[in-house]
Amino acid sequence: MPRYAHIIGWGKYAPSNVVTNDDLAKKIDTTDEWIRERTGIAQRHIATEKESTATMAILAARQAIENANVRPLEIDLVIVATVSPEYPFPATACLVQSAIGAERAGAFDLEAGCSGFVYGLASAAGMIRGGMYDTILVIGAETLSRFVDWKDRATCVLFGDGAGAAILRASEEPGGVMASVLGSDGSGGELLIVPGGGAKHPAGPDTVLSRMHYVRMNGREVYRFATRVMAEASKIVVERAGWSLDQIDLFIPHQANARIIDSAAKSLKLAPERIFVNLQDYGNTSAASIPIALCEAVDAGKVAPGNHVVLVGFGAGLTWAACAIEWTAVKPGAPTLPQRVVAGRLRYLWAGLKAIGWRLLRRTDAAASKVIDAVERKTPEE
Ligand code: UT7
Repeated sequence: MPRYAHIIGWGKYAPSNVVTNDDLAKKIDTTDEWIRERTGIAQRHIATEKESTATMAILAARQAIENANVRPLEIDLVIVATVSPEYPFPATACLVQSAIGAERAGAFDLEAGCSGFVYGLASAAGMIRGGMYDTILVIGAETLSRFVDWKDRATCVLFGDGAGAAILRASEEPGGVMASVLGSDGSGGELLIVPGGGAKHPAGPDTVLSRMHYVRMNGREVYRFATRVMAEASKIVVERAGWSLDQIDLFIPHQANARIIDSAAKSLKLAPERIFVNLQDYGNTSAASIPIALCEAVDAGKVAPGNHVVLVGFGAGLTWAACAIEWTAVKPGAPTLPQRVVAGRLRYLWAGLKAIGWRLLRRTDAAASKVIDAVERKTPEE
């Protein structure tokens, strides 16, 4: 029997700290008018000190788990798409795996710029359809506010923080992720880059003084690339799914710039009501933008079973990606039973306690082994 990969749960998180264009205009040489006209952005959510990529990813994941009505132990794999991970290593996905108590799951981070979530979804769907796994959690999470140069008006006004998650599950019922397109062009890598802090230019006083640890972008070139690949990738994925462009019920593009979205929509001949846009509220949240938009679209009742949904992203790399989804989840975010909420909280508390327990046990084990080794070394040969 052929296997299909259905989206059965979704969740999102955005920091409550909202920064408007006028707030930015008080600190840098910009205006609300310029930002709205050139980008469509009105505000963005910016992480507070207590929030970071992992904490936001965990909260989005919990919502998706509750929503999907799965137990963390059923999850086979956790993928976190991000360009702003908690650390260079370990992977943010491992921090999420531990926090949600997905003890059976593998976990890895995926770095494909703003296309990362769609790359993750396509990879997860392939693994499910190929029979490798049954249940996969895919997250897009970013704290780009920690990587933008708040003195560079050309980039800092664009980005925001947040996380979105989806749970994919195997089924023999047709539907779910029906086709995907993944693309890359590394020759454009320098157009959108954080040049410092990696193996080529390790972090040090020089990289910090020359502000190499911040995002650098050639906005015009990225713009030109984006308008081309968004439409191209969408056309290919629709063809691979066996649909025509007029069968797209909802188009959910990467939320970077309203003008880029308009240009893609024009080329695909999509009416405004078939396009989901929320970048006015979030700015560009990179790998989190598409899953946050997907959640909002589903929760707002804009996606119904049987609908054809196209997700398409582009970003650093350069990369682009698209997925064609036949939506099958019946409930538009069914309310969670109070017992389930309590059970969920207890489960996460227990997962946290267990992680502390394992850490303590590892330390005690190391100390005990040292003592035993020392005693053994001092024991005379018989
Ligand atoms: O996820 C992928 C991430 N990246 C993108 O999607 C970015 C794609 N590119 C874009 O969205 C657009 O290129 C931007 C929004 C970044 C810039 O818009 P633009 O229409 O391409 O503007 P520009 O870079 O050509 O700059 C036009 C002017 C410049 O002034 P001069 O040289 O003409 O006097 C800039 O200095 O606007 C100026 N400018 C600003 N003015 C006020 C640049 N940033 C700002 C600002 N406020 N924040």
